[in-house]
Amino acid sequence: VGSSSPSKFDILYNLSDDENVDMDWDNLKFGLTPTDYMYTMKCTNEEKFQKGQLSRYGNIELSPSAGVLNYGQGLFEGTKAYRKEDGRLLLFRPDQNAIRMKIGADRMCMPSPSVDQFIDAVKQTVLANKRWVPPAGKGSLYVRPLLIGSGPILGLAPALEYTFLVYASPVGNYYKEGLAPLRLYVEDEFNRASPGGTGGVKTISNYAPVLKALNRAKNRGFSDVLYLDSVNKRYIEEASSCNVFIVKGNLISTPATNGTILDGVTRRSIIEIARDNGYEVEERGISVEELIDADEVFCTGTAVVVAPVGSVAYQDKRVNFRTGSEAVSQKMYKTLVGIQTGVVKDNKDWIFFC
Ligand code: COI
Repeated sequence: VGSSSPSKFDILYNLSDDENVDMDWDNLKFGLTPTDYMYTMKCTNEEKFQKGQLSRYGNIELSPSAGVLNYGQGLFEGTKAYRKEDGRLLLFRPDQNAIRMKIGADRMCMPSPSVDQFIDAVKQTVLANKRWVPPAGKGSLYVRPLLIGSGPILGLAPALEYTFLVYASPVGNYYKEGLAPLRLYVEDEFNRASPGGTGGVKTISNYAPVLKALNRAKNRGFSDVLYLDSVNKRYIEEASSCNVFIVKGNLISTPATNGTILDGVTRRSIIEIARDNGYEVEERGISVEELIDADEVFCTGTAVVVAPVGSVAYQDKRVNFRTGSEAVSQKMYKTLVGIQTGVVKDNKDWIFFC
């Protein structure tokens, strides 16, 4: 792993880049590899988080009556750190994750860390675990900030104590397909979100309910599920862990974030990159018929990055889409990953150095 000058965390925790980790960097998957440190910060007065600290990564103690365990009061985020060829560690738009956590916290009646506290916690976690950031071009360190109602509560109400935690794990491609095209199953039985609900925020309680549909689709050989709106069962929304885009000619469209769709940081970045590259981009309702008629379909997300969709199955139809080096998704992927890894110039101030 490349080298850079020791930081205060090296000195504090006696870590250095010389201390190699036993990892097969060429075969990284998207899974949990426990790293050295995590960051914890608490809020006990319903408003302000106290100063946080790093500690050894490990289990946490929680009351059985914690708000998060009983009533699902919890949010999570995902962001990634990349190692540049020169050894520097880059973060991609962590401020956007911090802002999204604030919006989600308001919806879930929770206090949230300030944007500066959030970014500082992410940076500290990355620096303390820097030997786990994969070599340039081999993957990333996935950083998982969590905000949970940790205080005990029995009657249904917001908890009185909150814990903000950050941990990290080196990761490779999200799907087992790697960068190969995905096969999506359009789900017309189970719903992911409903108007007025929490589909638009990154609450932990949005994720367990999709497991049944996801497992069923995987058992049938699909990579992921594409959900429809719960009212008309006609408009596409998002996949289990990522947003969706369709391409028709020079027009790129993605479902509008109207409260049932997660406002993905990658989604927003791709919209900007596409416009900068001369594509017309629309955020609007997209019917299944339009999906089926598209030239190309792709998914975006922090974990997923930009993943081409090779085919979609809807009821008794199966349609194939353009993929490969000529695909728009390939251009989007290259530009986005180029910016994230410091290979393409960042003229938007999207990169934060650790
Ligand atoms: C991410 O893309 O960071 C997510 O939060 C998706 C998660 C289900 C892996």
